[in-house]
Amino acid sequence: MKERLLALEKAASAEIEEIEDPSELEKFRIRYLGKKGELTILMKDVGGLPPPQRPEMGKLANRIKGNLTSRINQAKKTLASGRDRQKGFLDVTLPGREPRRGHLHPITSVIKEVCQIFSKMGFRVVKGPNVELDYYNFEALNIPKDHPARDMQDTFYISDNVVLRTHTSPMQVRVMETHLPPVSVIAPGKVYRRDSDVSHTPMFHQVEGLLVDKGVTFGDLKGTLSGFVHQMFGKETRLRFRPSFFPFTEPSAEVDIVCVICGGKGCRTCSHTGWLEILGSGMVDPAVYRFVEYDADVYSGFAFGMGIERIAMLKYGIDDIQLFFKNEMRFLRQF
Ligand code: DAH
Repeated sequence: MKERLLALEKAASAEIEEIEDPSELEKFRIRYLGKKGELTILMKDVGGLPPPQRPEMGKLANRIKGNLTSRINQAKKTLASGRDRQKGFLDVTLPGREPRRGHLHPITSVIKEVCQIFSKMGFRVVKGPNVELDYYNFEALNIPKDHPARDMQDTFYISDNVVLRTHTSPMQVRVMETHLPPVSVIAPGKVYRRDSDVSHTPMFHQVEGLLVDKGVTFGDLKGTLSGFVHQMFGKETRLRFRPSFFPFTEPSAEVDIVCVICGGKGCRTCSHTGWLEILGSGMVDPAVYRFVEYDADVYSGFAFGMGIERIAMLKYGIDDIQLFFKNEMRFLRQF
């Protein structure tokens, strides 16, 4: 009996070392300690021994049972904590979660696209101050203090002589003042007017263009701007030059493109005219050349200025300019 008990103990201790999961452990427990378990049966046999042998064998059997039970409990705990460790385990074979990537704001992309088109035609990109002298914003553009054209641009004044620029046109003066002809530049940037509704924001963006050289004609202006419209809105886009007035250009023209919404039939977006205005332009007025000391008898040139938000709205079919500046991710993620 003693040998059988010790052999069982030896076998069981070796076996329990190999157990790797809780269900195996449970099977093991039943096999040894269950109602018909090997140890349970042996213990019953101890009961059938002659009385003098019973106490010693009983003691041995109980010790083995006690040890086995505590080893099973120990193994249960070890396996459970092993499983917990697996919960925090990094499975490097799982497919990764891609982080959401940022991208350019639609206004930034349109500015880039406009600049790219003109860069290919040989224009150089220049930038200037947003806080501007009255002199560059108005005076040198042939808009004197009492000129009615000042009323069209509701200006933020910093002081009597300093403003937030109301357009990018001051860059024409700044460039000509520091460079002799020939010049061909485009100047993108922010501009400011005290205005706010579905088609106006107090800050918006413009791109200005200026080209001055010997013998530049209105034909060059038409060719350059037609090329731009066809690249920006598509080869088939019709455009027209409509006579207009700006104090710093003579003659002046506004450029309309055929309505991108109705194709020229007339709709709400184009106020039933079939046309959408996209920019102002003209031949640089000799009055401006006087401020920068260019000889108007030798040089001629053209200038143009366009609102970027308006172009972006037409390009993407957006009807509320405020959306560009609300930082609403559901809107911005569409671009
Ligand atoms: N600066 C004008 C505006 O903001 C737009 C403009 C018109 C710019 C004619 C020009 C130009 O360069 O030639 O309303």
